[in-house]
Amino acid sequence: MFAAEKLITVPFDVYRYDPTRGGEPRYQHYELRLAPHTPILSGLLRIRDELDPTLTLRYSCRSAICGSCAMLVNSKSRLACHTPVGPEVAEHGRIVVDPMRNQPVLRDLVVDQKPFWTRYEQMDPHLIPDPLRPMPEGRPTQMTPAQVDRFKETPRCIACASCYSACPAVEADPEFPGPMALAKLYRFVVDPRDGAHKARLQKIQTSGLWLCLRCHLCTEACPKDVRPSERIRDLKELAVRAQGGTEPGSRHAIGFMKNIEEAGTLNELKLVRQTSGLSGMVAAAGQGIRLARKKPELLKGPKTIEGIAEVRKLYAALEKDEEVPL
Ligand code: SF4
Ligand code: SF4
Ligand code: FES
Repeated sequence: MFAAEKLITVPFDVYRYDPTRGGEPRYQHYELRLAPHTPILSGLLRIRDELDPTLTLRYSCRSAICGSCAMLVNSKSRLACHTPVGPEVAEHGRIVVDPMRNQPVLRDLVVDQKPFWTRYEQMDPHLIPDPLRPMPEGRPTQMTPAQVDRFKETPRCIACASCYSACPAVEADPEFPGPMALAKLYRFVVDPRDGAHKARLQKIQTSGLWLCLRCHLCTEACPKDVRPSERIRDLKELAVRAQGGTEPGSRHAIGFMKNIEEAGTLNELKLVRQTSGLSGMVAAAGQGIRLARKKPELLKGPKTIEGIAEVRKLYAALEKDEEVPL
């Protein structure tokens, strides 16, 4: 027999917004006595059942599988069915619940997921067979364990949109496909049965791949360890390998890498030329002159750092895909 868990007072401040009644969004305060292990979703459902039947939220499996109960809990993306109340109250003293970001609020905690799913659909998230290598009819197509290993994280995705909500690139640019859509794209780019990986890479190079800010907030937000920012990094690498520097994002990455290999530090002027070419330098001339007046040393370029031999060893190891010497 287990001892009964001591109940604690759990203060909730829940975002409320009902467009049918007009008025501004607001927070509504509720208090419940709950065992610390109680999932936040269970608390919200008790509020709806016992205190306020107008509270609107989305959920289904209550087992961290369907992804529909994703919301902001004390400003962090969480699955409400998988987040206990106790640690949140211990750390923050209360539980502030908000709807996901980057998607319009329909009512209370329910958002319109259309932007998220539209971006996903744009990735053609299904296998496109190669007509020159038709799949064997009536029997499964086999892959080697190493081939499956390349995309082992992406099937864990439950489409909860936590990453989309956390992503500043989505917020800044409606053209950015979002972390989950790009992680899905990666999954098909490295699938040996897919016949469209070159076309997929070509399309994404100019459709938002390089808008990712590499902030890793999507990876922090993901409850299933899909690590979308790492999949985006892999996509960028594959795009550069397949096509070289075909547009400013990839040219910037290549220029950055060469700068560090050469001198161990960045040469800002050179990087502008490598990224945007001579025409880009001319366009940025005014800004460059102002900067050079403030920092004349920029015109000479940076000095090669003392530890450059170590930097080059790291590059050589990475080139051979060896373990990096630390
Ligand atoms: S790493 Fe890229 S995709 Fe992930 S949250 Fe940051 S900007 Fe968005
Ligand atoms: S990648 Fe992670 S955070 Fe993004 S939708 Fe999939 S499971 Fe959710
Ligand atoms: S209700 Fe399905 S993931 Fe929470």
